[in-house]
Order: sequence, then structure tokens, then C-alpha cells
Amino acid sequence: MKKLSKLTLISMLAFGLGFCGCSANIPAENGSETTGTTTATEKKAPEKIWKDTNLHEAYADYFDIGVALSANSYNKYYNGVYENFSTITAENEMKWESIEKTEGNFTFENADILANFARDNGKKMRGHTLVWHLQTPSWVTEVPENTSVDDTIIIMLERIEKHFVALNERYSDVITDWDVVNEVISDVSGEMYHKDSIYYKACGSDNEKFEYFISEVYKIVQKVNPDVVCYYNDYNLEWNKEKRDKAIKFVENVEAYGVDIHAIGFQGHNDINMNYDTYCTAINDMKNSGLFTEMAVTEIDLSIYTSASQENILLLDDETEKKQAEAYASVFKAFREHSDFIANITFWGISDATTWLDYFPTKSRNNHPLLFDDYGEKKLAFDAILDF
Ligand code: GLA
Repeated sequence: MKKLSKLTLISMLAFGLGFCGCSANIPAENGSETTGTTTATEKKAPEKIWKDTNLHEAYADYFDIGVALSANSYNKYYNGVYENFSTITAENEMKWESIEKTEGNFTFENADILANFARDNGKKMRGHTLVWHLQTPSWVTEVPENTSVDDTIIIMLERIEKHFVALNERYSDVITDWDVVNEVISDVSGEMYHKDSIYYKACGSDNEKFEYFISEVYKIVQKVNPDVVCYYNDYNLEWNKEKRDKAIKFVENVEAYGVDIHAIGFQGHNDINMNYDTYCTAINDMKNSGLFTEMAVTEIDLSIYTSASQENILLLDDETEKKQAEAYASVFKAFREHSDFIANITFWGISDATTWLDYFPTKSRNNHPLLFDDYGEKKLAFDAILDF
């Protein structure tokens, strides 16, 4: 069904009122929640929509189906989440900058909202994320001048342990899996790690020291909580063979220090060209590496755009919606066929009304990557993944 999209509404109502597009990793939610005026997000009424569908039960024999939520929006989506998803990931609320922006001062309010929602409704959570070079305050890696790299590593690890102990004390009853480390592998061909990462730099930009540091992070998590499933999580592993090989090498190098990285997370931020064959190859590579007992797709959304320069599509046209549904059907076929290895498929958001892809990689381009449209109505993609 074609309707006025959220971007049109936002442009009409919020232009000039301080609404700004967000860059990568800043949640779309910010944009729609802080305009101080009516937006498409407020306009939709999802409660009445999703009651009759039940995605996670349909997939009960295969894997969990999860969704990333923000503390601002979870209650609007109550029925949709309750009926369709068995796990929840905090979109931002459990990231370092949200929990411990300044050393020793913990803010759990927003993370509590999501954890309590999960507890009250019998859902489990994926912890996201402990060590990541983004959305982490600079104090975590800052040390007095002339501190050696080895001492810097010790100081960072102490901070990480305190931080994780605090999170674990509060949420270990509801969190079963942690994205312990997120996105360390470089996208640059021939380069192993993100050279601008605050953690990598603090390790003297030395691959071996960095791998040692990461191994200690996993050891801390497993010491504090021996039951939690420890993931390494990254993007583009689905289609970029070189990056996938680097991730495998990274895990081997880290495990050489005597720790087990249990599982691999494919973020799954792909587009409507994504397909069965690509995922099967990538999943098989990870399975055949013998390194992991399981994997998850931790942040799936299929952008309707296949390049950053593509023009804005304000209204999702029938042809694009159909192509997206076929892409979702195709990748879910791959997921089902590998359900012996896949533990969880999590969508990065519930409705197109609040997707980060409206702001990334291009500001203010209307994207429609999820299962439910701006108004909370299920899209063709939803039926497509249920049709098996
Ligand atoms: C990465 C992170 C997520 C989120 C998305 C963009 O994939 O892992 O936490 O920030 O970027 O929203």
C-alpha cells in the first residue's frame, strides 16, 4: 500500500526545527524522537497490527528470531515484539557510552527498560556490545603520558572487567549471548585491523599485542560469566571473502592465547541483491572453519538501495517491495537449511519508520529495509519468510 512516507512528513513538519540526519551508528530513532513535532513514527499505530502474526513460533524448530529495540520505542511496538520475536537486542542502550560514559558512573535506566520488558514477557536478550571502537568514551583507552603499551593493556582490561561485572550483575538472568567484540577487522584490502580503532591504537597498533588484548577480553567475560555464549560480530562477512578470511584468521590468532570464541555474528546489513548462494557460501566457510559451535545473523536489514548514489525512493513501489521480499525469502531459505549451525536471526529494527538506514550511507534518503512499513503494516517480505 502506498502512503506518504515518513521522510515526506518529517521534511514537511520538521524542516528548520533542528532535525538533523544522523551518521552511521547513530540511531535513526534519535531523528524521529527528538524533532519535537509530529512525525510518521508517532502517526502509526502498531498495536493493532501485528497481533495475528507469529514469526518466532513459526521458526521455533529452526532458530530464535530477534529484534533490536530502543528504550524510546519499545512500548509502541509491544504487541509486534511480543508476538513475533523471541529475543531482544538493545539498539544502543547497552553500549559503553550509554552505560558508563564517565568512569565509575553507571547509567542503567534505559537498558533496564529493555531488560525488564524482556523479563516480563519471557524474552531473552543478546548483549550488544562490549569492545567496539565506536560509541565508546575516550577515557576507556586513555592513560597517562609515557605509559607503556603493556601497562596500557592492563589498565584497559581492568576497566573492561569492572564494566562487564556491572553489566553482568544486572542482566545475567536475561542475557544469554554477548557480542563481546564488534568490528575489529579492516575493510581495506591487505590490512588486518581497523587502524583508527581506539583499542588498536592503544595496543601500539601492533597486531600481536592487539590479539593478546582481545584474548584477555574474552577470558574476562568467561571468568565473570562462564555460561554466556561469546560472539565475535562484524559486517560484510556475508559477501566479502577476504574479510571473512581475515575474521577466521583473527579468531585463530586470538584462540592461540588459550581462549574460546564460541560463535560468529554476521551483522547482515545487506541489500536487496543479497541471496541464498552468497549466504550459503559464507555460512559454510564459518562452519567448515571448525572454530565455532554456532553463529547468528545479528543485525539483518535489506536496504532497497544497492549503491550510495542511488536516488531517493520516497514511496516503496510494488516492484521494489516484491524484489525485497524475494531477497528475504532467499536468504531465509539459506538460514533454514543451516539451522543446525544458526542460533538466532535478529532484525535491526522493527519498522521502516525508525531505521538507521535513512541516514546511512546517505543522509535523509528514505529506506525501507525491514519487515514492517512506516505504519507498522507487514510488508511482502514478512509473508515471504513465513512461506516455507
Ligand atoms: C553496527 C553496530 C550496531 C549499530 C549499527 C548501525 O552494525 O554493531 O550497534 O550501531 O552499526 O545502527
